[in-house]
Amino acid sequence: MGETQKQWSSINKGTLQYLITLLVWKAVSGQIHYSIPEEMQKGSFVGNIAKDLGMGGKHLSEHGLRIVTRTGTIQYFALNFNSGILQTSQRIDREAICGQAEKCTLNLQVIIERKLKIYGIEVEITDVNDNDPQFHPWEQELEINEASTLGSRFDLPQAEDPDLGINSIQSYQLTGSSHFSLHVQMDENGIRHAELVLDKPLDREEKSVHDLILTASDGGDPMRSGTAQIHVIVLDTNDNAPVFSQPVYEATVTENIPKGSTIVTVNAVDLDEGINGEIKYLFHKITNKFSQTFILNSTTGEITLGGKLDYEESSLYEFEVQAKDGGGLSDKSKVVIFITDLNDHAPELEVTYLTSDILENSPIGTVVAILNVQDSDSGSNGEITCSIDPSLPFQLKKSMDNFYSLVTDDVLDREQVASYSITLTATDCGIPSLSTATVIALRLLDTNDNPPLFAESAYTTYLLENNLRGASIFSFKANDPDWEENSRITYSIMAGHDQSSLSSYLSINSESGVVYALNSFDYEEFQEINFWVKAQDGGSPPLSSNVSVTLFILDQNDNVPQILYPSTPTDGSTGVELAPHPSEPGYLVTKVVAVDADSGQNAWLSYQLLKATEPGLFSIGLHTGEIRTTRFFLDKDALKQSLVVLVKDNGQPPLSASVTVTVVLADSIPESLSDISSISAPADPQSDLTFYLVVAVAFVSCLFFTFLLVLLAIRVYRWRTSQLCASGDVNFSGVPVSQFVGIDGVRAFLHSYCQEVSLTTDSRKNQFSSQQTCEANDPILTFEDLNLNNGDQIIEVS
Ligand SMILES: *[C@@H]1O[C@H](CO)[C@@H](O)[C@H](O)[C@H]1NC(C)=O
Ligand SMILES: *[C@@H]1O[C@H](CO)[C@@H](O)[C@H](O)[C@H]1NC(C)=O
Repeated sequence: MGETQKQWSSINKGTLQYLITLLVWKAVSGQIHYSIPEEMQKGSFVGNIAKDLGMGGKHLSEHGLRIVTRTGTIQYFALNFNSGILQTSQRIDREAICGQAEKCTLNLQVIIERKLKIYGIEVEITDVNDNDPQFHPWEQELEINEASTLGSRFDLPQAEDPDLGINSIQSYQLTGSSHFSLHVQMDENGIRHAELVLDKPLDREEKSVHDLILTASDGGDPMRSGTAQIHVIVLDTNDNAPVFSQPVYEATVTENIPKGSTIVTVNAVDLDEGINGEIKYLFHKITNKFSQTFILNSTTGEITLGGKLDYEESSLYEFEVQAKDGGGLSDKSKVVIFITDLNDHAPELEVTYLTSDILENSPIGTVVAILNVQDSDSGSNGEITCSIDPSLPFQLKKSMDNFYSLVTDDVLDREQVASYSITLTATDCGIPSLSTATVIALRLLDTNDNPPLFAESAYTTYLLENNLRGASIFSFKANDPDWEENSRITYSIMAGHDQSSLSSYLSINSESGVVYALNSFDYEEFQEINFWVKAQDGGSPPLSSNVSVTLFILDQNDNVPQILYPSTPTDGSTGVELAPHPSEPGYLVTKVVAVDADSGQNAWLSYQLLKATEPGLFSIGLHTGEIRTTRFFLDKDALKQSLVVLVKDNGQPPLSASVTVTVVLADSIPESLSDISSISAPADPQSDLTFYLVVAVAFVSCLFFTFLLVLLAIRVYRWRTSQLCASGDVNFSGVPVSQFVGIDGVRAFLHSYCQEVSLTTDSRKNQFSSQQTCEANDPILTFEDLNLNNGDQIIEVS
């Protein structure tokens, strides 16, 4: 058939004419058959029907030859009834009438009306190459997965060419690709199918679209062709796994970074597109704990802090992260987070052992407390030094790792510091350093290590004589710095030597230390009492101390001057003094002798004439008591002169006594005696004279005796002074007032008159002297206890 068509194409018009004739012949036997190519011009000759039906050429119209027409059909032909020639009445397109049918014929009937004969005429339309191959649409997309294996075939669009046979599509060509080749195969209907064959692997990531041009050509002459643009879209396959930018991500952060801070961001790249390139980040190998500490943003790969970091808990965090794309491919990377230590922990200080109190006499090195220090930081941030105030008598000793013992470092004395508040400080070596302090209180327990002590080493106190019974004399106060019982002081009085009777004079309140006088003291009895006061504490064993006390009894003017001479007459008569008539002025008539048991000013006597018969005739020495004449006697002067002498001491108030002295003026003693006897009532002049002689002798011998006594007294005094100074023990001493030395001398002189008075002279002098030389203490006068008896009576003795 293809060859036949080819022959057709080369047939010229002459040959065509011959063939038509041949066909007409054939039709005679059945029906008339013509064949014409399509696309002939209107009016083109198809065949000579008249001739083929054997009808003569003349009068042809008379035969009534015409084409039978049916309404509704297209008239492609027209018959010239004059010549009997069939012509095309319009352009005939075979493809329009017959489509792809192989044989395309048009049938018509002609009728000869005269003969009433109908003849069938068949006109075959033969194909000419009048159509281009065409693709619909001319631009097409073809999606090919990039993972397609080599040699894979993909259908290409079919071109269409309605022409028949050789005029239809004969070949395909592909241009524009190095990756593909074309494979054309013919099916059983002879239709060619073009397929795209993958020659080289595709990579979307390299080239995602390949533009190809497919050309379809037919076999007509001239050949026609049509092209189609094929866009090969390379479809992505998940052929690229995500790739982390780094195999290991390292980050260093300080342990105190706040929650939510970004630590590190991991990043992976996936060359694929779409879901295949969508990366999700996940933790891969992480412990549960870490996963709460760190938060991984699955889309951004940002790792933030979700918990708290603690260098001491973990100084390094290591885990894996995974990047996964939508196709399930993944990559792993390691994340290492180094935590740097900060000095964020203060040292911890724990007192594991503590004594709250300690005896003050504990030996040096006694353990007071044991402490344990710890710091959760590491390195120098965790190195601890412990300290206390260096001025405290304690020391910190490092005993073991992190253990310190606080020991005493000095002798403790509760009386100086009763309790300590010790601040223990633990400081680490971080910068800045942190520290913790604890205060421990330590109380010192008392031991009886202090005896009670008096403020003075010796006491001197004074008491005015004639005190009330039970008067408090002095209050002793000893001090004991110890505590409680150890400082509870009891006082007692201890007598010196030979003083067993002291307890009858003095007593002490054992608690208050107040000394009371049990008796009223008489200065004239004792001037001084020495004793000891002992203070003892209540400790076990008790400690005590004593202090020597000297109590001076102070004199009070409680003794009236006592007139020794002239003595008060016992028989009612007054003593008579003789004064020779021709006496010179200043003649010593007599001397009034008086003593006063008091001492000092209280015993300082003064004499004065209170009354005289002849005023101005006699004078009396103010202190000597000597009665002297002041002028010559005159005849008019009475023979018997009476003088009242007042003796007064110097006390406050003064006490006084008076005596009447009778002086008889006589030319001679016998005369005067007779005078006296004549004057005085019943007086025996002889006996009077004898009496006066005796008195005079006694006076002189007394004077001598007194002198001897004074000498002896000075001797004894020197001897005893040395004795007493050595023994330091002086009993019942005298008045320590130096200004009375002279008075004492006078007193000693006067005492020779009276033995009872002179009894105490010896000791008094001694005591006085010893006081002068031995008593070097500063006396403390406490007048508060002195009972001054300021009576103002004057005892008159007449
Ligand atoms: C991840 O980060 C993005 C951008 O910062 C944010 O929008 C998203 O909420 C985060 N996802 C999570 C789970 O935190
Ligand atoms: C008083 O104490 C001293 C020591 O201070 C002691 O030598 C003396 O014997 C004591 N005296 C008495 C009377 O106890």
